Amino acid sequence: MMISAFLLLWMAGAIGCTQAGEETDRAPTVLVFKHGKLSGDGRVLSDLLRDFERRHPGVIVREELLPADSDRQHQYYAMNLDGGKAPFDLLGIDTIWAQEFAKAGWIASLDGLLPPAERNQFFPGPIEAATFNGRLYAVPWYVDTGVLYYRRDLLDRHGLEPPRTWSDLTRIARTVLDAEQDSGLAGFLWQGKQYEGLMCIALEVLRSNGTDLWSGDRDRAEYGLQFLRETISTYRITPLSTSMADEESTRWIFGEGHALFMRNWPYAWSMFQQEGSPVRGKVGVVPLPSFSGFSSAPVLGGWMLAMPNSSTHREVVGELIQFLTSADTQRMIAIELGYNPVRRALYDEESLLELRPLLKDLYPILLSAQPRPVTPYYLLLSQAVQPEISAVVVGRKSPAEALDAIRRRVDQIMGDQASPAGLGRS
Ligand code: GLC
Repeated sequence: MMISAFLLLWMAGAIGCTQAGEETDRAPTVLVFKHGKLSGDGRVLSDLLRDFERRHPGVIVREELLPADSDRQHQYYAMNLDGGKAPFDLLGIDTIWAQEFAKAGWIASLDGLLPPAERNQFFPGPIEAATFNGRLYAVPWYVDTGVLYYRRDLLDRHGLEPPRTWSDLTRIARTVLDAEQDSGLAGFLWQGKQYEGLMCIALEVLRSNGTDLWSGDRDRAEYGLQFLRETISTYRITPLSTSMADEESTRWIFGEGHALFMRNWPYAWSMFQQEGSPVRGKVGVVPLPSFSGFSSAPVLGGWMLAMPNSSTHREVVGELIQFLTSADTQRMIAIELGYNPVRRALYDEESLLELRPLLKDLYPILLSAQPRPVTPYYLLLSQAVQPEISAVVVGRKSPAEALDAIRRRVDQIMGDQASPAGLGRS
């Protein structure tokens, strides 16, 4: 209720700003905005775009949606940007693609939109990911990080606290599952499908054991991969179907009340709190666990806005990017969609924190979140690694075999490239 009232109030203010009756005889400028399907009510973004149109008479912004899956969006963009004549003017890009798209010459530099002095108003990770050869190629839109969701009511019922280590998590999940045998409850859901989401959880598990997929201590890396497999095979706290699960399918099962723990991005929280949600008021969020002796290591995620080099409407697209990444819009999508602002000052706004209390807990997690390697070759690397991790998850390969293949492939791909941030190689 309160949230929609906020939207209406804001829109009313915005309408007040337009110049009534200002119309033009010229054919409208149509901007095509391509982006992945956002979670939550699609009207929030379309209302914002209608507001932009009112402020820019003669401009029409047409949204064209892609599936939410990051890898499938990447496929579409790679095909359509490569020809040099993209059929869109603005695109939402995953934080891991900016380097590749900039290097390929597919997206335009946006240095002018966000002068260096203003960049420190944003979280540093996304700005680094958007900067290629010293120039900014995308403006961060919202930021993500992996977190652990838990059912507070179930832990309370059994007198348990949320886990800090992965072994706490398996022990607690087994205890609750054993006590609630006929409930059909799953212990721990995560994203195990062969796609980018699997890279994220694998990195989070290995990095929280002081190592990494492509570098670092081999034994600890094998142990981390083995742990992922064993949540299914040994501890039996993770259903086998997790090997095909993504963010939305896990969010759905947890949201229906069928799981105790879930790794996911923060967007799910506001959905759980909606009226009619079976888990409303029963969900808590904590940092992802680590292995004993190491720290939690959530991955940095998020999305940015970029402009194809071929766009013929650069000025107005620039204005649209500024509008969509402004503090006002970020506040709006944080409230209405539960997306985390990339502008740090918003995390100090009491009125926003009242509506979205989770932001306060997320701030330190977002600041310490670890990027995936910032390199134009990241996708190549990820696509080579994903099948290996997937093979471990479904029990087709041992962690040792998979790591051999991963480290060999990464060496081939990176060849003589300079070591990018996050790859941990010299
Ligand atoms: C989320 C993150 C994105 C990540 C993707 C993986 O959308 O924001 O950075 O690559 O999930 O599935």
